Amino acid sequence: MLRFLSTSPKTTTRIGRTSSSKSAFIGRAIISSSSSNASLRASSSSSSRFCLGKCYTSFSTSKAATVAATTRRSLLSSASPFSTTSSFASFPRSNASETVHSSNESGRRRKRYSIQANAGTPREECMVTTPIYYVNDKPHIGHVYTSTVADIYARYKRLQNMDVFFLTGTDEHGLKVEQSAEKRQIPPQALADENSLVFQEVMKANEISFDDFIRTTDERHTTQVQAFVEKLLKSGDVYLGKFEGWYDEGQEEYYTETKAKECNYESPISGKPMVRMEEENYYFKLSKYESKVKELLATSDSFLTPKERKNELLQRVNDGLNDVPISRTNFTWGIPMPGDEQHVIYVWIDALMNYITAIGMAKDGEAKQKYWPASMHVMAKEISWFHAVIWPAVLMALDLPLPMRVHAHGFWIREGRKMSKSLGNFVDLTVLNKFSTHYGLDGFRYYLATEGPIGAQDANFASSRVQEVYGTDLVNTFGNSTSRTTAMCVKYFDGVLPEKSDDTSKIFKGYDWKSICEKEAAEAVRAYENLELNKATQAAMRIITKVDLFITETEPFRMAKDPNEQENLGAVLYQCLEALRISACILEPILPNKIKEMHAGLPLYANVSDSMGKRLVWGGLKPGTTVSKLALFPRLDPLDENGEIMKEEAQAPATSNKPAKKSKTKVEKVYSPETQAKIDAQGALIRSMKESGKTNDDAEVAEAVKILKELKA
Ligand code: MSP
Repeated sequence: MLRFLSTSPKTTTRIGRTSSSKSAFIGRAIISSSSSNASLRASSSSSSRFCLGKCYTSFSTSKAATVAATTRRSLLSSASPFSTTSSFASFPRSNASETVHSSNESGRRRKRYSIQANAGTPREECMVTTPIYYVNDKPHIGHVYTSTVADIYARYKRLQNMDVFFLTGTDEHGLKVEQSAEKRQIPPQALADENSLVFQEVMKANEISFDDFIRTTDERHTTQVQAFVEKLLKSGDVYLGKFEGWYDEGQEEYYTETKAKECNYESPISGKPMVRMEEENYYFKLSKYESKVKELLATSDSFLTPKERKNELLQRVNDGLNDVPISRTNFTWGIPMPGDEQHVIYVWIDALMNYITAIGMAKDGEAKQKYWPASMHVMAKEISWFHAVIWPAVLMALDLPLPMRVHAHGFWIREGRKMSKSLGNFVDLTVLNKFSTHYGLDGFRYYLATEGPIGAQDANFASSRVQEVYGTDLVNTFGNSTSRTTAMCVKYFDGVLPEKSDDTSKIFKGYDWKSICEKEAAEAVRAYENLELNKATQAAMRIITKVDLFITETEPFRMAKDPNEQENLGAVLYQCLEALRISACILEPILPNKIKEMHAGLPLYANVSDSMGKRLVWGGLKPGTTVSKLALFPRLDPLDENGEIMKEEAQAPATSNKPAKKSKTKVEKVYSPETQAKIDAQGALIRSMKESGKTNDDAEVAEAVKILKELKA
């Protein structure tokens, strides 16, 4: 955060982001809209306009202009806002007025897009989170998917040499947990302990590289939640009032009359009837933050992604924001409301705060506070309301900076239908384990990353697609190309990487490898930044497909027979292996284990600490390096929807990229291994051209199809 501490006198009150005149205007507009709040008015002058209660006075406008980076750290870790005397004095301040993330974001991003600029840059903080999962559900593909996406992003950021803090955990309070525990006649804590452990084990088994696993029953969490709520009570943002409305028990979500009516008084998630509620509750003054939240959603393209989510939420916010109850009295399994133990804190407020309790934002001298604001909250679409509307409003009320990005992906569905308990069609742990054991953790991760519902659309889980994606991209493209080129290096050069020739003009016509790789690497980095995981893999696959085509055209096996072609042969192999090295570095966040395996046979980087930016620079392979033959992805039999090996299909050639069913009836023509390899490469090239939007009418595609037909003839 301190990196963006402005030194301009105009912007000295901002922490976490640089300011703009637009955001300053928004800030002023907000003050006037909340002028009825005495404490806010009292603190709303210049530098402290979003502070509540006694504010950050030590951080005055004039001083801030000269505050060095380290000063901010010490401010963050000075006297606790919750110590008896400090009364919120040291809260890091909100960036609530700075709704325009995009300008500053793009400034940061621009730097990160440039693959070379990152090499050797100092580490920066990056906090990545998953939702914390309910302990009354069993883990399934949805949980593993979101965690895998967040993991890929975290690994990518670590490879950028950023100081990453990756948080996940379990959400353990609430009526449903209390009821499930009652049914089993065990205390809710015992149920939570048991199921939280299952989630922890699943995350570990799936090699989710989290840095911390928070549980909402952790004492470190409960005490800080109480402290935060106490702060809100003191500021008047939480008050005691009467609630009358509709409640979705399954989702623990309150609905206004209008919204409930729209949903036909049924839960949009479970379809169960909503319950009419009337109770005395503590309310959060969400209405007070309506204009700010609206502004945030409307003006920033980067705060909530994909953009379809933003439009959905904006429509809902435009209907108006009512104050929301944040306490319950009809059950006890929750964090007691400070000063009124009849009430427990609403589970969503409790849960959302995990993101700041894990890093000790309400504690004294917590070094991890440096990770706030989070760079990326990953989740699915059904909880975007809580993360992109309620959460920013709560943070504004707490005078804390807002997360930089909330990404709410689509759902995994099955046979076109939502996965649900009633349909019993979850891809559950047993099935998941069968897939990841069969295809390997990386093989299955690759499927999740390339076919998952990362954008606005839902994605259908289909075992035939797992087989196709694995066979096409990993076996036939990446694996095949790596094994052919490393084998040639071993065969023709005794496993010692040859020198690259200087006179390569005739054989490399049409293959400017350096710029091909640089272009694709930049595209992959851009895609990772945007969480477009599929596009990142496509960039790597395009390079590899080109390598195959290059081999087809230059025919190194022919060159090997001609003593006059040795230099060219060496150069061809060098270019191929270097291009494959770069593809591997692109794929590393998705295939961490396979890339490690590859590194053992073909050194991908000089030092493990080399940033991704450095690794992606052309020329990383040093002539003279020892190379050994690699066989990364074995051909595998397909699995059925339950993860069982399809016995009959086991006979079908794994090189076939067609759905397993079809291959049963089709008589496959058998080619020599060399011709088959060429056919595979050509097929992959055509597919990649089509994936990038080209059709058979494009001359390039028509030409490639012609070559394929000739090969097959
Ligand atoms: N406890 C809340 C989250 C609180 S975060 C402050 C919760 N928990 S949950 O166990 O229901 O997990 C929901 C999340 O699991 C989704 O947002 C998504 O990340 C993941 N998924 C659950 N089902 C899913 C699919 N069918 N498809 C993709 N991801 C889904 O909500």
